[in-house]
Amino acid sequence: MSAKLHLERLPRTIELTIGGSGGFELVYVDQRTLPRQLVFERTGDWRAVIVALKTLAVRGAPAIGVAGAAAVALWAGNVGATQALGHGCAEAGPRFLEELDTVAEEIVRARPTAVNLAWGVRLAKERAREAIAEGSSPEEAADDLFALVKRLEADDEKTNRSLGAHGASLLPPNARVLTHCNAGSLATVFYGTALGVVYAAAAQGNIARVYADETRPVGQGARLTTWELAQVGIPCTLICDNMAASLMAAGKVDAVVVGADRIAANGDTANKIGTYGLAVLARHHGIPMYVAAPSSTVDQATPSGASIPVEQRASQEVMAHALAGVEVWNPAFDITPAHLITRIVTEHGIFLPQDIVKTFR
Ligand code: MRU
Repeated sequence: MSAKLHLERLPRTIELTIGGSGGFELVYVDQRTLPRQLVFERTGDWRAVIVALKTLAVRGAPAIGVAGAAAVALWAGNVGATQALGHGCAEAGPRFLEELDTVAEEIVRARPTAVNLAWGVRLAKERAREAIAEGSSPEEAADDLFALVKRLEADDEKTNRSLGAHGASLLPPNARVLTHCNAGSLATVFYGTALGVVYAAAAQGNIARVYADETRPVGQGARLTTWELAQVGIPCTLICDNMAASLMAAGKVDAVVVGADRIAANGDTANKIGTYGLAVLARHHGIPMYVAAPSSTVDQATPSGASIPVEQRASQEVMAHALAGVEVWNPAFDITPAHLITRIVTEHGIFLPQDIVKTFR
């Protein structure tokens, strides 16, 4: 039996628009104020997008991929095209592309682990290069970048709905799903990856409950996943990260479904810190461990998890007031080895981890 889901209560996380003065503007949900308040921010400044990425106002691998491309578009439309013209017509195109490379590098540096950021920025760079090579002016190239970002926004939802449908076929009826971090609509432009699987299964009446790991230290599970599931109307139970083993031992979990920030060519997967531990627990308890992510998260150029850069974050996230003599280790992600992952789900279907590069054939 299908269930009524209130997806219309979820905001679109990021949206590129034309502002009142005619410049490009990015509207985004500031995820730091959730669940207290749903706040939309608006900026025309590409550097403000970098700050939003670094401070986790905009977060989640697929969302930061589109935000990265949008930051390039903001620079091109609001700064780069005008500056380039100052160099005269003949020089404008090459100067625009030269400056764009510097801007792109700065954007990519904002967050190193999720490969989607580099992917979104690369697509934007390629589009701008093509436009200039075809004889477009920097201004026309900026318009092309605007169109590219709008396409990425639309594609993100399509991709998530498609991977959600594939993933739903893996779950048993009345599934009780444990998830980690927020790989929901908020981590994407719309609909979500791991929670996309949940939404697709719930639409068929197949979800009994989602258990949301709190996800220390930033609390994406406690603050965001619980809020998102409550909006949509899916039963959700919040647990502290250290309760997952007991929950599994009590026979309350049918599947673990998580997202990913980067999947290496051999299927090793970087995701929010704590995912590896869940995979070990799931294997011990004979529970399937599913990773749901768009193909833009698969990094064919990274052979294994050992080469994935893991972002280290500020100690204040773990401990607000430092104690003299106490060091804090705060990696934002960990690597789950491919052999602990039951299946990886992308918009192209369901794969054994070692077969993930087949996504691209
Ligand atoms: O640090 P964040 O919040 O940007 O981390 C990203 C994540 O939300 C997760 O690791 C997630 O599971 C992958 S993104 C769908």
